Amino acid sequence: MSRVSDGQVIYRSPAATELLGTAKSSFSHFAQAEDRADFVTALLPDARVDNMRVIGVRANGEHFPADLSARLIDYRGDDVIVSNIEDLTKELAIQAELDRQKDQLFQAEKLSALGEMLAGIAHELNNPLSIIAGNAEILHEELENSPQERRIDKLSQAAQRCIRIVRSFLSLAREEPLDLKSVQISDLVANAVDAVKPDADKAKVSLNVKNTEPCQSILADDVQLTQVIINLLTNGVHAIQDSGVGSSVSIDWTCSGSELIIRVADNGPGISNDIKGRIFDPLFTTKQVGKGTGVGLAYCHRIVTAHNGKIWLEPGNTPGATITCSVPLVEDDQREILPK
Ligand SMILES: Nc1ncnc2c1ncn2[C@@H]1O[C@H](COP(=O)(O)OP(=O)(O)O)[C@@H](O)[C@H]1O
Ligand SMILES: [Mg+2]
Repeated sequence: MSRVSDGQVIYRSPAATELLGTAKSSFSHFAQAEDRADFVTALLPDARVDNMRVIGVRANGEHFPADLSARLIDYRGDDVIVSNIEDLTKELAIQAELDRQKDQLFQAEKLSALGEMLAGIAHELNNPLSIIAGNAEILHEELENSPQERRIDKLSQAAQRCIRIVRSFLSLAREEPLDLKSVQISDLVANAVDAVKPDADKAKVSLNVKNTEPCQSILADDVQLTQVIINLLTNGVHAIQDSGVGSSVSIDWTCSGSELIIRVADNGPGISNDIKGRIFDPLFTTKQVGKGTGVGLAYCHRIVTAHNGKIWLEPGNTPGATITCSVPLVEDDQREILPK
């Protein structure tokens, strides 16, 4: 119970004292002065407030989310507030956890449905697209040096892009078994850099291979792991190209202990905190329709995990973004039993 006029506490139950301490003024139970003002404003017209959300202050000074209900009474000639405050900390934590689980379940269901649909569409598109691309290729040769050449060129490039998108959907949807071989990381990186170089050049972004330290071989599916590196490099190039911030994407690796660590870093705009938790989600993209599919990092995650490795975004707000993968190195005794 507290007085409206000056906030002075007239009575406090033992439970309230345990939660809020023994301050003389009820003002100090509110973390924000506006909360108390809003509370009184809401209370005065009807002499009641039910379930108002405020931020309370615990006996030890900590803030907590609270639910506040009150009645205004006349007590010995004074306007007095009789209020009931409930600590919502646990309830909100449980609610947040439930929401998270529901979200995850929803996400998983959505993905499996989407995955099936995408795989179906991609499958259907694959053949006609190959025909378009193939014929464009033939026409290109036939029309060389003619005025139509540029148009055919564009047609061909667009068809190739569609084919790449369709393939990326297919590879995400269908879990191809790993075809493991003993491979050298330097070879994979060289192939990936070759693949990304034309796009990087066009975007005036330099690709730097920072490290050529020879490493022990790894047991990996070379095609799929190369694709992982291509995706990471491409993301760096796109981020720089789209934002106009930054100029280079670099890749380096170290083989210390039993792990190969591969890092792809760019000096682009970086990844903002509010999307950090979602970049590995399938179909999450911030890019325009046609440019991003949101499949890249989800694919990387799946492939690296299938190699018993890990992939993560480096924390911290250094300029640009750095994605690191770790993959186990092949033990010496394992190496002898590997197929040549
Ligand atoms: N190097 C990077 N710099 C900034 N943002 C990035 C980078 N890599 C990934 N992202 C963000 O993560 C999102 C998901 O990436 P990805 O799964 O590869 O899908 P996509 O590239 O098709 O959008 C991107 O849309 C982008 O917002
Ligand atoms: Mg991508």
